[in-house]
Amino acid sequence: MRNAEITGWGKCMPPNVLTNHDLEQLVDTTDEWITTRTGIKERRISHVEASELAAVAGLRALAAAGKTVNDVDLLLVATCSGDSIIPSTASVVQRHLKAWNAAALDLNAACSGFVYGVVVGTNMIRGGTNNTVLLIGTEKLHFVTDFTDRTTCVLFGDGAGAVVLEPTDEPIGLLSSELGMDGSVGHILGVPRDGTAGDPGPIDPRASAIGMEGPELFRRAVTTMGDSAARAVKDAGLSLEDIDLVIPHQANTRIIDATARRLGVDESRVFVNIHSYGNTSAATIPVALTEALEQGRVDPGDNIVFTAFGGGLSWGSAVYRWGERVEPLGESDAELPPPDRTTMELLQANFDFFGLPEKLT
Ligand code: COA
Repeated sequence: MRNAEITGWGKCMPPNVLTNHDLEQLVDTTDEWITTRTGIKERRISHVEASELAAVAGLRALAAAGKTVNDVDLLLVATCSGDSIIPSTASVVQRHLKAWNAAALDLNAACSGFVYGVVVGTNMIRGGTNNTVLLIGTEKLHFVTDFTDRTTCVLFGDGAGAVVLEPTDEPIGLLSSELGMDGSVGHILGVPRDGTAGDPGPIDPRASAIGMEGPELFRRAVTTMGDSAARAVKDAGLSLEDIDLVIPHQANTRIIDATARRLGVDESRVFVNIHSYGNTSAATIPVALTEALEQGRVDPGDNIVFTAFGGGLSWGSAVYRWGERVEPLGESDAELPPPDRTTMELLQANFDFFGLPEKLT
């Protein structure tokens, strides 16, 4: 049977860092609170657009797969903080890459976008429509973050991760998946005014920022990710002992720990890098997968569980069997242009729009 496997992987994290101690200078918070309540120590603030992060991550993934941009016949960009709605962020990424042979579309399932993308990309290959799918999760969440709101501004960060999917006849790749959405509670996480709903007119800056009911999301994230991952493992015909690595969406270490407990997997089999990057939505899993490979945490034939939860409220879990190769075939020399501003200088535009954080007033 024609299957699809991940043959390349890469990430692009912008260099500007915003630490918990920096946030202490802005809002009424502490490194201790953020660390114990979320696991986050620092996050990245991008000086370029989400499409540029995506393009560099994509070039690195293509090099790891031994492919060129001309090979790509489908470009899937999972994002909820992309450059624009029209043209799609995928269109802009295509332009950066000069991937002229690729059909391209955005896929917005918020933090679940990468898991949705793996399922869509795999099935496009299985169906015979595509041969080289470049799937990128990219976010510039600081753009929609209000740094006067301590309940959200400590959580989110920017970054991009990418994978290349190619056909294989081996019994590897996606073994099972479960995707879901509960639109009846979509309002508990979102940016109220980032589309066409409502009348045209002046926009209240607060409505352009991410807002959420944190504790309610927390509760739903734990049950939904744990249960859907368990169902996906069962559907794959595997037991929990067969799972070598869980790569969960990185929203909060307490959510990750509780999900792992609910799933029945000990922490040694769970990949966590949230301390370095915070929640980068659709980018967390491809970035974590790339780092897991770089750190030798993936072995040939490993059974890996991807599980995510996010705005929508969306969720997705997938059981994926790795192939033989865990080393990249090549390396790209693609780099972002160096930033010309400090992290605080980059955030000044947010302060001008949303208002000055209380400690700067
Ligand atoms: N620093 C210090 N105190 C803070 C704070 C911050 N950055 N943010 C909130 N607090 C305060 C609250 O105001 C509250 O104070 P009060 O008791 O005086 O009212 C107290 O801490 C507890 O707030 P609560 O919201 O109950 O905390 P929590 O333990 O639920 O943690 C989150 C808050 C946001 C970290 C947690 O709910 C969470 O991670 N939720 C999921 C969010 C998420 O993942 N969203 C994206 C989904 S993909």
